[in-house]
Amino acid sequence: MAHISAGVATSHVPLIGVGIDQGKQEEPYFKPIFAGYEWTKAWIKKPENKPDVVILVFNDHASAFGQDLIPTFAIGCGEEFQPADEGWGPRPVPVVKNHPDFAWHIAQSLIIDEFDMTIINEMPVDHGLTVPLSAMFGEPDAWPALVVPIMVNVVTYPIPSGDRCFRLGQAIARAVESFPEELNVQIWGTGGMSHQLQGPRAGLINAEWDQKFLDDLTGDPDRLRQVQHIEYLRETGSEGIELVMWLVMLGALTNPKELHRHYHVPASNTALGHIVLENRS
Ligand code: DHB
Ligand code: FE
Repeated sequence: MAHISAGVATSHVPLIGVGIDQGKQEEPYFKPIFAGYEWTKAWIKKPENKPDVVILVFNDHASAFGQDLIPTFAIGCGEEFQPADEGWGPRPVPVVKNHPDFAWHIAQSLIIDEFDMTIINEMPVDHGLTVPLSAMFGEPDAWPALVVPIMVNVVTYPIPSGDRCFRLGQAIARAVESFPEELNVQIWGTGGMSHQLQGPRAGLINAEWDQKFLDDLTGDPDRLRQVQHIEYLRETGSEGIELVMWLVMLGALTNPKELHRHYHVPASNTALGHIVLENRS
């Protein structure tokens, strides 16, 4: 049977991709940013931890979707996904390969389980998906895991609530557990932490709120499920709402144990957060 062995969350700041693609990891600005991923890069290489498939929960930033089409929850079921051109040409990273049979199984299970997923067969994938892969896997010729992309709209209101995202995670866990192939699956949540990219509060960071969020992923998940949009907006800035995608990851875990945490301020305009959670059954 397929099983979820771990949950991983990370910010997806585009500058992390720039730092890797342009070989800037040793520069003073980037060094502390990348230092916090060294533990994870070593951990994820070990045979017992290496995922066969990553269910990667991310948001598109108007690269594949625009105001013409706004799915709330979508799942990539196509064979592969090319890196998007976000204005400077596509990132020089490998194509993202899916496990289409597994993805279609998850889609079917979620829809029967009352989550009406949009099915995507073609989609360019932007920094929301490729930066976490680079942060965890570095610069391989091919990504070492298959990726099932799960896309959440956190750009145009109405955005799904944190609690609904958590319940989507629970439904994803049920879908994984009912897939007969023996697969080591990780679920990743991406985006956040506090940041605001525009307007008078651009540059806002709230380290105290972020640290409490990191603590409560294992300490008080029920509190996090109840955090309302208005609190994310007020306390974490307009783009801090990306954190609801971490709750999809959290909902898919049973009894998670924190293995590693990294928090660094600022990375570009963002409070960078990263956590690794073991899924204990
Ligand atoms: C930044 C952060 C993001 O999450 C994003 O999607 C785009 C930019 C930033 O801090 O620059
Ligand atoms: Fe973002």
